[in-house]
Amino acid sequence: MGTASVAEQEFSVLLNEQAAEGIWRAKIATPVAASIASGQFMNLRVPGDGSHILRIPLSFKHADAKANTIELLYAVVGEGTKRLSQMRVGGVSTLVGPCGRGWWLPKTEGRALLVAGGVGLPPIFAAAQQLADAGIGFDVVVGNHTAERHLVKEIDELRSMTAGEVCDCERRVVVCTDDGTLGLNGFTTDGMKELIETRAYAQVYTCGPNVMMAGVAKMAMEHGVACQVSLERMMGCGFGACSCCNVALAKGGYALCCQDGPVFDAQEVAW
Ligand SMILES: Cc1cc2nc3c(=O)[nH]c(=O)nc-3n(C[C@H](O)[C@H](O)[C@H](O)COP(=O)(O)OP(=O)(O)OC[C@H]3O[C@@H](n4cnc5c(N)ncnc54)[C@H](O)[C@@H]3O)c2cc1C
Ligand code: FES
Repeated sequence: MGTASVAEQEFSVLLNEQAAEGIWRAKIATPVAASIASGQFMNLRVPGDGSHILRIPLSFKHADAKANTIELLYAVVGEGTKRLSQMRVGGVSTLVGPCGRGWWLPKTEGRALLVAGGVGLPPIFAAAQQLADAGIGFDVVVGNHTAERHLVKEIDELRSMTAGEVCDCERRVVVCTDDGTLGLNGFTTDGMKELIETRAYAQVYTCGPNVMMAGVAKMAMEHGVACQVSLERMMGCGFGACSCCNVALAKGGYALCCQDGPVFDAQEVAW
């Protein structure tokens, strides 16, 4: 977990290419790489159309503190992400970060179960790296609508990360598609069901569409497993100044996704 002070920093584009249908993979050089923690995010300004002034909040897949580089995966959904996808190698802009509170390690001993839906994969990938670095075993469920949306390179990387683990049980990376074009024909919750019913976990980590995370959190709670969720909200400032990213809490009241999250204990959230 980390809430380091937020600052505006420059970034330059080292790589920006299409990785799957509607999904881009980018690598940027930025000093934020030295301080950003797994599960935190950055708020990027994309040069171009002055009518689009909001920054784009993005999680990251991997940060290399020595090389000062960060790897991103993002879906092109609107004007901002379209212009981001058009930035060329060598293009420069600014970002604000590191923002928010990231993942924390399990509070009890045991394996972790990671569940990613769609472009929820980058922070889940960062969590996998954090767990691997801490010597904690994990299984992963990765879901998408269809095979063309799957990030094959990242799935292979997750497979080799889990394969290196010292553990007395087989490691699993379960791939699911809603239309059955790759892996299990079903939702991530279908992929998760068999794992959580047959294996012991200390912690579930999830990021994806809200409806998916609600289902994952419910299943984790039913099995008595602690669950962290990385939530998405529309954002303005990204650091607690504009109050536009409210998350309703189970105990009543609201938290700010950008500052108190994006990672929350699933039990804190009013689903
Ligand atoms: C903490 C955080 C981390 C994120 N990390 C990633 C990531 O790693 N990869 C990735 O692909 N996306 C990520 N997102 C979502 C990403 O920020 C939005 O897709 C992006 O801001 C859309 O900008 P746009 O100008 O292209 O789209 P717009 O033209 O602003 O909107 C296009 C569509 O996207 C929706 N949208 C816009 N902003 C958000 C948002 N903040 N959350 C959910 N839906 C939104 C709009 O409702 C609309 O339907 C993250 C969001 C948050 C809050
Ligand atoms: S985005 Fe401004 S307070 Fe959260």
